[in-house]
Amino acid sequence: MRREQSTTVPRPRDTARSATAVAHPNIALIKYWGKRDERLILPWTDSLSMTLDVFPTTTRVRLDPDAAHDAVTLNGEPATGEAGRRITAFLELVRELSGLSQRAVVDTRNTVPTGAGLASSASGFAALAVAAAAAYGIDLDATALSRLARRGSGSASRSLFGGFAVWHAGPEGATDAEADLGSYAEPVPTADIDPALVIAVVNAGPKAVSSREAMRRTVDTSPLYRPWAASSKDDLVDMRAALGRGDLAAVGEIAERNALGMHATMLAARPAVRYLSSATVTVLDRVLQLRRDAVPAYATMDAGPNVKVLCHRADAERVADAVRDAVPDGTVLVAGPGRGAHLLDEGGR
Ligand code: DP6
Repeated sequence: MRREQSTTVPRPRDTARSATAVAHPNIALIKYWGKRDERLILPWTDSLSMTLDVFPTTTRVRLDPDAAHDAVTLNGEPATGEAGRRITAFLELVRELSGLSQRAVVDTRNTVPTGAGLASSASGFAALAVAAAAAYGIDLDATALSRLARRGSGSASRSLFGGFAVWHAGPEGATDAEADLGSYAEPVPTADIDPALVIAVVNAGPKAVSSREAMRRTVDTSPLYRPWAASSKDDLVDMRAALGRGDLAAVGEIAERNALGMHATMLAARPAVRYLSSATVTVLDRVLQLRRDAVPAYATMDAGPNVKVLCHRADAERVADAVRDAVPDGTVLVAGPGRGAHLLDEGGR
C-alpha cells in the first residue's frame, strides 16, 4: 500500500526512533578463548553455549537528532572508560551499516555483576545489537544480528539464540568480508537433557585482568594454547554428538575438561593469568564428591573464580545445597535454558 505523501517534510526529530531489547547471558560448555582477528572479533575455535534464563540485560536505544555525541548509561550511571568506548565503537558500526549519522541515547540495565566472569558483555552486546539495529532501521535476520553482536563481544553472538548455540569460528585465511560472513552463531539440535546450571558466585567483584587482555596474553605467550585449541575442536564434535543423543553425563564431562584445559592455557601464559581462587577449588572438590555420590554434576569456569555446575534439573536443588554448604559466603542460584535476544514491544513485553 502506498503511503500518503505528506505536505510537510518531517524534520529529523520527527523521525527519531527508539527500540528496547532484552538478552540473557550464556555460559560456554566449549569455550571461546583466543582471537585470530581482534578488530573483527574472529576466534581461533568454534564454541558452544547454553543461554540462561537469569540475569537479563535490558537496553533501550533512542536516536537523538540534536546530539553531537552518544549518551550511554549503565544501570543509570554514565558509562565511562573502556565500557563506554566499546559501546560507542559499536554504535559507529551500526551507523555505518544504516547510513544514518544520528547519535544515540543508550540506557542499559544489567542484572548480572559486571566484570565478574558471568558474561555481562554477552547479554549486553546481544541486547544492544538487537535494539540498535531496530532503532537505526536495519532489517537483519538472526544470523546477521549474531554477526553484528559478535563485533561488540565474541560471546554475545551466542546470546541471540535460546537454549544451546554454536558459534562458528569461520573460514581461516579468507578475506575480511568472507571471514566476517562465516563467523556467526546458530542453535544446536539437542535431545532433551533437562539441564540446569547451578551458579556459585564466590566473588562478585570485578576481575584483575580483563578477559580480552587475558585471551591476548594466552594466545601470544602460552605454550599450551595451540594444543588446547586443537583438542577443543575434537571436544566440539563430541559435544554435539552428546547433545544430540541427550547424554548429560557426556556433555558435562566434555564441558569440564574443556574449561579446565582453557584455564591450564592461562596458567601457562607469561605472566600467568589465574582466575581460579581457593573458593573455586572448594566448589570443584564438592562437585567431585557429588559424582562419587552418583549425582551427575560437572563444573565449568570462565574468566573469574565463579563456578557453574551442569546437572539435571531434578538434581539442581541437591547440587545447589551441596555448593552452598561448601561456600557459605557465596551466592548460589539455579538457572535453566533461557530465550534468545528479542525486542520488547512498547508495553515492555
Ligand atoms: C571465558 O566474549 O567476553 O567467557 O570477545 O573480547 O569481548 P571479547 O570476549 P568475551 O569472552 C568470553 C570468554 C569466556 C568463554 C566463552 O564465553 O566462550
